[in-house]
Amino acid sequence: MQNPQATPDSFSLLQRLLHWSMVALLALNLIVPQRMWAMEMTLWGRSMSGHMAIGTVIFLLAVLRFFIRLGFGVPNEPLGAPRFFRGLARLGQWMFYALFFATPILGIWAYQTGDAQVLRLHRTLLPALFWMLIPVHVGLALAHQFLWRTDMLGKIIRG
Ligand code: HEM
Ligand code: HEM
Repeated sequence: MQNPQATPDSFSLLQRLLHWSMVALLALNLIVPQRMWAMEMTLWGRSMSGHMAIGTVIFLLAVLRFFIRLGFGVPNEPLGAPRFFRGLARLGQWMFYALFFATPILGIWAYQTGDAQVLRLHRTLLPALFWMLIPVHVGLALAHQFLWRTDMLGKIIRG
């Protein structure tokens, strides 16, 4: 685990690239209907859609991002923001990580086993949680920038 005394001042280039590339890939998988990505791809002897390929890439990037976060750390939530919102931001970030792992794993599981219950979770509950968290996260990012003036947005864009 990272040493709280040694948290970095900003996000590294790799962390920023991971943040924004995952935003784009997640947007594709959350917004574009799965069947529109149907394309002729074979992986491990099975045909695979673009949705599944993108979902698998999201999973692999999330694993990388998780270990970078544990090893390198992220900037502390600045004291300029009220304590409650600092806690909310951290909680939301860890919930995102849980979804980064759970969503593709359940997608792969449902695809391999054909389990309808698991597929339902993958198609409904988990995307709904993403859609609840994203506005809260973006709202906090904007409040950091324009209300509390802590420049967290600058740190995730420019470093
Ligand atoms: C974080 C990554 C992922 C997200 C956000 C995501 C999101 C979604 C959403 C919102 C749906 C419902 C919309 C639709 O049916 O078009 C869906 C369906 C589905 N996803 Fe994913 N998914 C991800 C990864 C995966 C992976 C890795 C696989 C399998 C290898 C997968 C397999 C499926 C399947 C089989 C369906 C159902 C298609 C159908 O009902 O015909 N997903 N996913
Ligand atoms: C799919 C959408 C998004 C997801 C899943 C997401 C996820 C995350 C995660 C997990 C972090 C923590 C840093 C890390 O562990 O790497 C983070 C930080 C951050 N994100 Fe996002 N993000 C999304 C979209 C956005 C958007 C659209 C903005 C800008 C309006 C934004 C602004 C920020 C800011 C400013 C931080 C640093 C602030 C902090 O640490 O609280 N994010 N994001």
